[in-house]
Amino acid sequence: MANMPCVDDAYWQCFMPLRCYRAAGVLENSALLTYRGDKSRERYQYKKNYCGQKNALLLFFLIMFDDIFTIKFARIRVSDWERKKNEILKNAGELIYEKHPKGEFLETNFSEYKDEPDRMNVRELLEDELSDFMLTSGARVLVNGSWLERSTKGMSHSVHNHGALGYSAACYVCYDSEVHTPTQFIAPFNNSITGMTMQYEPDDIVEGDLILFPSYLHHYTKPNLSDKERIVLSFNLHCITT
Ligand SMILES: [Fe+2]
Repeated sequence: MANMPCVDDAYWQCFMPLRCYRAAGVLENSALLTYRGDKSRERYQYKKNYCGQKNALLLFFLIMFDDIFTIKFARIRVSDWERKKNEILKNAGELIYEKHPKGEFLETNFSEYKDEPDRMNVRELLEDELSDFMLTSGARVLVNGSWLERSTKGMSHSVHNHGALGYSAACYVCYDSEVHTPTQFIAPFNNSITGMTMQYEPDDIVEGDLILFPSYLHHYTKPNLSDKERIVLSFNLHCITT
């Protein structure tokens, strides 16, 4: 410790103005000084490659950040999948390509749900999965629209959301993870440091996966680049809290 570099208090003060920190450990020639506030959540760590000059200091500032708002996203593996897949496809009826597309560059029976709120019979088909969601979320849910979307080669769905309230779902009915991509999500706020838009793509989606997300989240699908069709069952959930 005899050759320990002398750290000028005034120099350090400009970097740690909040509280008084003490050096917890010093290593020779490559000084590592760790400071912890006794009762604070801030943690400051200074690393020094000592070569006799103050301006050779490398400074690492580590602060404990908390997430004060988070987006709850659920992922469920649908049980008894092959039977349910067959039922879903049997219920599909005719899927039509929008003549005046509003971002839906795909085939769908979306328009039919206005007359029949649960056109795809999700409440019965996915009863177990919806029960799990209700138990976990603490809300009762009502299916408020269900439809199928089919994308053949080149088709996609541009950025949209499903309204201000409730949850929405995508169940991957015909999906090959080798050639297809899942739903892409856009954060409702930018990265505070870079200002950049933040996107999220669920990892390792396979056929039979069901994802549930807040309806307000903007999302889209990338064009299907393969010759295999991609079919997704979509629905909205009205959430009722008691
Ligand atoms: Fe959507």
